[in-house]
Amino acid sequence: MANAVAEGAQSSGKVEVELNYYVDAESLSSYDAILVGAPTYNHDMPVDFKNLFEDVAVQGISLKGKTGAAFGSYGWSGEAPKLILEIMKNKFEMQVVESLLLAKYTPDQSMLNGCRDLGKRVSESLMNRA
Ligand SMILES: Cc1cc2nc3c(=O)[nH]c(=O)nc-3n(C[C@H](O)[C@H](O)[C@H](O)COP(=O)(O)O)c2cc1C
Repeated sequence: MANAVAEGAQSSGKVEVELNYYVDAESLSSYDAILVGAPTYNHDMPVDFKNLFEDVAVQGISLKGKTGAAFGSYGWSGEAPKLILEIMKNKFEMQVVESLLLAKYTPDQSMLNGCRDLGKRVSESLMNRA
C-alpha cells in the first residue's frame, strides 16, 4: 500500500517522495506531507507509532499545517489509521486528508488504485499550495 501511495505521489514528477520504514521525530519537521501506513494490532496502532507521536509531542516538534493521511491493512476492526488521523488533526493541527484506506489483510487492485490516487491527490494539493 505504501509503495502504491508513493508511486501515485511521484507520478506528478514535481514532488520529492521518501518511503521510510522508520523515521525519528525530529526528521518529521522536514516534510510537507506525512502519509502513515499502519496495521491494526489489538484494536490499536503498533507501539512504534505511539512512541513516535509521543516523541514529537515531548520534543515540541511542530507539525502544524503539514498535510497528513493514514492507511493500512487490518483483519476485523481496523482502528489504527483512524486513531492516527485523529492525533494528526487534534494534537498536531495538521491538515488531514480524511479518506481512510483500509485493506482487509491484503490490498486488491482497486485498493492499490485508491492508494495511488491518495498519493496523487496529496502531491497535487502540495503543488497548488506552493
Ligand atoms: C496479534 C494480532 C493482533 C491483531 N489485532 C487486530 C485487531 O485488533 N484488529 C484488526 O482489525 N486486525 C487485527 N490483526 C490483523 C492485522 O491487522 C492484519 O493481519 C494486518 O494485515 C497486519 O499487517 P502487517 O502484516 O503489515 O503487520 C491482528 C493480527 C495479529 C497477528
